[in-house]
Order: sequence, then C-alpha cells, then structure tokens
Amino acid sequence: MATLGVNIDHIATVREARKAASPDPVEAAVLAELAGANGITCHLREDRRHIQDRDVRILKKTVKSHLNLEMACTTEMIQFAVDLLPFMTTLVPERRAELTTEGGLDVVAAERELSGAVETLQRNNVRVSLFIDPDLKQIKAAKRTGASAVEIHTGQYANASGDRRKEELYRLTDAVIAANKLGLLVNAGHGLDYNNVEAVAALEHIEELNIGFSIVARACLVGMERAVRDMLALVR
Ligand code: PXP
Repeated sequence: MATLGVNIDHIATVREARKAASPDPVEAAVLAELAGANGITCHLREDRRHIQDRDVRILKKTVKSHLNLEMACTTEMIQFAVDLLPFMTTLVPERRAELTTEGGLDVVAAERELSGAVETLQRNNVRVSLFIDPDLKQIKAAKRTGASAVEIHTGQYANASGDRRKEELYRLTDAVIAANKLGLLVNAGHGLDYNNVEAVAALEHIEELNIGFSIVARACLVGMERAVRDMLALVR
C-alpha cells in the first residue's frame, strides 16, 4: 500500500505573501503527522519563494516520520543537504520562472552530474530519489546513477482527461513496473488531488505519494488534519 508524504510548501507560500510569521509550515507538519501523514516533504528553492532555510532546519528536528527535502542538483543545495542530513532528498529540475516544477529531470543528459550528487548524498546516508517523467530511458538512466529511488512525475496524468488520462495511467503503470523491476524504490507525485489520486494509489509497487497543493488548498477551508485524513482515506 502506498504511503502519503505531505508537501507543506504552500503553507509557506501564504506566509511569504506577507512576509509574516504565520502560517508556519513547521506547525502544519505537526498537524499533518498527527492526522497520519507518513512523511513530510518540502522544497527549498534557489529563490526561497516559499520554504526558508530556517523551516527546513526546524523540520529536521521536529518531523517524527521522515523528512524528504526536494531540491535542485546544485553545489549549494548538495552542501545544505550534507549539513542537514534529511532522510531523503528528491532531486528536481528548477527554473526561476516556473510556477511549480514543470517536468522531470533529464537524467540521460545530466547522468554524470547526477551520479556525482547521488554518490555524495548516499555516502552520507541520505537516500536519493530522482524526479523523472514516466519514460523508460529516464528510468534506466536513473538506475545507472546509483540512486536508490525515483519519483515518477504524475503531472501529465493529472492534467489529462478522458481517454488521454487513461493513456497517461498506462504510461505510469508501465513506468512503475519497469522501475520496480530494476530494483528502484518508486515514489510518485505532482498534481494529485482528491479526484484523481485513487487510480495512482492503486498501482502496485508505489512506495510513497507526494502530495502538496491539493491538501493545502483544502486545509485553508477545513483545517490541515481533516485535509490530510481525507487524502489518506483515498490513498488507502
Ligand atoms: N513531487 C515533486 C517532485 C514536486 O516538485 C511537487 C511540487 O512541489 C510535488 C510532488 C507535489 O505536487 P503538488 O503540489 O502538485 O501536489
């Protein structure tokens, strides 16, 4: 059964809208865990548009499940992760102008650089997951880097409708099976919400779903604990 990692970035988005002290993503993480979240995810971006260094440092001390730090594969971030030692880092592509992460890493093109980052992080006992599109070439390249996990990008599935969504679900299914066969741990995420999560959660071999925006959006209206519980009920 897939577990649920709750991404709390957008609690920090609201805080940063006024450069205020609240809402605090650290408090949101506590509530998410009390509601049953299996992990907490945050993305420390180069432009620090939502999560701040202080948030990640406190989360490292307070998260009782496990902390997954999403980050770009840069010298600054690798050093940050080696100093912090989160349970896991998920390496993602990052562009300043994007509203959110737009696609998976091109591991084929950046294999050497990513292999170096994977080696450094895993030597320090930080699990590394590479965020990739559901594409066999990328999955095989991810395996070659030595990363122990991949996160399959579900954004195209989430954005599609009708027959296109069915096709995207087949792509996800094939990708999850292929990654599992290669011995990679398989996570998935991006764009998952209360209406589209069940089909993905039902796929065999998925370790963890990382879900952020839809949970935080619902939490604005009904509270964090209920929003997480509603999502957990669908994932399970
Ligand atoms: N996984 C990765 C790698 C992401 O970059 C994001 C967005 O930060 C998510 C999952 C969560 O996506 P969403 O906020 O759409 O649920």
